[in-house]
Amino acid sequence: MERLQKYLARCGVASRRKAEELIVAGLVAVNGEVVRELGVKVDPERDRVTVAGRPISLVSEGIYLMLNKPPGYITGNRDPRGRKTVLSLLPKGFPRVFPVGRLDYNTTGLLLLTNDGDLAYALTHPKYQIEKVYQALVRGVPADDALNLLRQGVVLEDGPTLPATVDIIKVKAGNAILKLGLREGRNRQVRRMCAAVGHPVLKLERIAIGPLSLGDLALGQYRRLTGAELKALQKQIGQAR
Ligand code: URA
Repeated sequence: MERLQKYLARCGVASRRKAEELIVAGLVAVNGEVVRELGVKVDPERDRVTVAGRPISLVSEGIYLMLNKPPGYITGNRDPRGRKTVLSLLPKGFPRVFPVGRLDYNTTGLLLLTNDGDLAYALTHPKYQIEKVYQALVRGVPADDALNLLRQGVVLEDGPTLPATVDIIKVKAGNAILKLGLREGRNRQVRRMCAAVGHPVLKLERIAIGPLSLGDLALGQYRRLTGAELKALQKQIGQAR
């Protein structure tokens, strides 16, 4: 017997945490009965589990993609306002994968897509503190005190941020391009941090997650991770466990 949210993750439905949200939202049924509690266990051999009415089953092969997210796409599966989703960038009929974490509608750059719920869980859970690197064009040129605030921790409405690495990599027409390395991933965090020190973000791109770099992958394009990349990622997660 296995906890329902863990089984959903192994079936490639979503990360374990997202799977919990699906359960609470009443989208998951076991043998035809909607289950909303989180303690429920299932027998993968016998129980019939559906998500939003569709039967699910264990995935035999892990799929790991990196995508260069273009602006104007949402990271979720579906948008009530009908905006385009990153999943629409994959060919029709592509096996089911889901995005790991989230990038804002207008943020571009490295997004992982996978059907491996455990990997997604580790990459998004704060306890693993996998570094994510961003390049941000900000208004104005931050002075040393602003940079040091960003590095040491800015107090946001949901609490102070963890120490980060921050460097100016270029100054262009009175604005600066910053490279920021964060070990947490709160909602709109880079935008809120930069705004808090008086330098709002004009453009934001994620260029790395742990050992993975976006490289020269074009906007809107995706590719499978190489074996070496996947190994490096799993190694980093293993070390953080
Ligand atoms: N921080 C943000 O502000 N936005 C993103 O999309 C990612 C990190």
